[in-house]
Amino acid sequence: MRLHINIDHVATLRQARRTDEPDPVRAAVLAELGGADGITVHLREDRRHIQDRDLRLLLATVRSGVNLELAAASDVVRIALEIRPREATLVPERREEITTEGGLALGEGAARKKLAAALEDLKRAGIRTSLFIDPEPASIRAAAELGTDAIELHTGEYAHALLAAKGRLQADRRRADTPEEELDRIRRGAVLARSLGLDVHAGHGLTYENVMPVAAVAEIEELNIGHSVVSRAVLVGMERAVREMKDLLRQARTTPAGAREQ
Ligand code: PXP
Repeated sequence: MRLHINIDHVATLRQARRTDEPDPVRAAVLAELGGADGITVHLREDRRHIQDRDLRLLLATVRSGVNLELAAASDVVRIALEIRPREATLVPERREEITTEGGLALGEGAARKKLAAALEDLKRAGIRTSLFIDPEPASIRAAAELGTDAIELHTGEYAHALLAAKGRLQADRRRADTPEEELDRIRRGAVLARSLGLDVHAGHGLTYENVMPVAAVAEIEELNIGHSVVSRAVLVGMERAVREMKDLLRQARTTPAGAREQ
């Protein structure tokens, strides 16, 4: 299983002072030394964290490969076509959100057309494509129809459900489903996606505490993890934070479920 480290929040810290530290490019190099199999960044339309210059420097520096998250309707598609990251993940984007709040809506209409056009352009440029979607059968089937190479299953609802079950959800959101139900949705979604020939990634809200059951899903080949790893890196350093997450992924694949602590 590949671990991609999302380093957006290294840039968030820098942008808090509009200065030149901490540097996301240095963070990326340290993440690679800790065992990251790829570096993920989201170049948002409002440029709230990662800047265009960061992206260009990352492309020139990162050895493992960059996964660029972007919105289909943004100017970032043009940038992606020019700089050609290894992989591009299309995500929904709203200015007022704190972070990406859910998967793409793949229904009919103008939004789907924009998505299809962006996918086609990215594929033609030789960039591997992924769509960030909720683990719902209809979305997975629609993603396969659109011809993406991969999907990234949104694990945020699972993460929320676990926090809610433990009484630790800060927001006023209340989950209707249990963590087991959410996990089951992810498992079934991963199986369906594989059966349709899609590569399966997952991410959002994954932490050292909740990652093991997701990492144990055999069909999932790649995880994108940001906030939790960067948070730990503030305290113990990036290299160690990544190594500790890699160790958990390894354990998830080698330890029988019954023997695993969650
Ligand atoms: N995957 C996608 C598509 C995302 O937008 C994000 C957040 O930028 C992540 C994964 C990582 O989420 P987190 O920071 O909660 O680990």
